[in-house]
Amino acid sequence: MDTSLPLNTGTTIPALGLGTWQSAPGEVKKAVSHAISVGYRHIDCAYVYGNEDEVGEGLKEAFASGVKREDLFVTTKLWCTYHSRVEENLDLSLKALGLDYVDLYLMHWPCPMNPNGNDPKFPKLPDGSRDLDESWSHIDTWKAMEKLLSTGKVKAIGVANYSVKFLEELLPHASVTPAVNQIENHPYLPQQEIVDFCKSKGIHITAYSPLGSTGSPLFKEEVVQEVAKKHKVSVGCVLLSYHIARGSSVLAKSVTPSRIEENKNIIKLDSSDMESLESIHKKKGVTRFVYPAFGVDFGFPDKQ
Ligand SMILES: NC(=O)c1ccc[n+]([C@@H]2O[C@H](COP(=O)([O-])OP(=O)(O)OC[C@H]3O[C@@H](n4cnc5c(N)ncnc54)[C@H](OP(=O)(O)O)[C@@H]3O)[C@@H](O)[C@H]2O)c1
Repeated sequence: MDTSLPLNTGTTIPALGLGTWQSAPGEVKKAVSHAISVGYRHIDCAYVYGNEDEVGEGLKEAFASGVKREDLFVTTKLWCTYHSRVEENLDLSLKALGLDYVDLYLMHWPCPMNPNGNDPKFPKLPDGSRDLDESWSHIDTWKAMEKLLSTGKVKAIGVANYSVKFLEELLPHASVTPAVNQIENHPYLPQQEIVDFCKSKGIHITAYSPLGSTGSPLFKEEVVQEVAKKHKVSVGCVLLSYHIARGSSVLAKSVTPSRIEENKNIIKLDSSDMESLESIHKKKGVTRFVYPAFGVDFGFPDKQ
């Protein structure tokens, strides 16, 4: 699976990346170094995942084995409590990862949170709701991210979890169009509206939680199983290949060596496969795995 997809920066992004969210300590170093050794070239990280130092150890192992920095594509993300301290948060990630630069720096969510709240990562108000920083706008954050481009510490900048509503707010103020919008995406949540909008603006889509995250019911979907049977591949491969057929890149998290290898078997799905996969949400409605857990309305439509 060597395919890369074009970005509006003139460079490319590998079609498949290794996810590292919820990759536990003691597991993620091995996962990263194994993935790179079997051909993965994109590693997706985030400050908030709390495991970038161990991801960095995996990267170090890969470099020691002869892989060059320029052959890898590393993404990391600005956390919500750092919206007003963009470069500080990037520096923390670079230090943990042991890198001089990342290939892509994303605003993790378009919602600044109180940097002085009751928790450094997930501050809450007394009623249990998110402690959002109303004095700071995601547009200010983007302007600070644009400034990073001249530091050499980021090759490209982008966003994550942006709906059409948020992009329409941001784009009129942006000197640099985001290279990527990383969103939750799978056959239960095709997100056609934001996918089409981003395409029209030259913003590449990266799909996250493509397998439906941990314990996902997507693996039991009859339609997906039938497509997998037809092509003699695993269900996971169909769920990942679905995004490549849509022109998106995709992130698959695993700390299991055999699955890391299995997930590389991206295949070309035909239009009848895609019609079958698209039929799932039409029958069953939309399911979001990650957005509701965040507890903030991001302006995504209820119906797709
Ligand atoms: N920008 C954002 O806000 C955001 C949000 C969520 C995720 N992400 C990124 O996207 C990545 C992927 O999303 P995700 O972690 O939510 O979930 P995912 O990749 O959809 O699913 C991961 C789960 O599937 C299992 N798995 C992996 N390959 C499998 C296979 N071939 N067969 C059966 N099970 C398999 C993994 O188990 P094992 O690990 O035990 O093998 C893990 O429990 C994240 O790791 C993160 O890097 C970004």
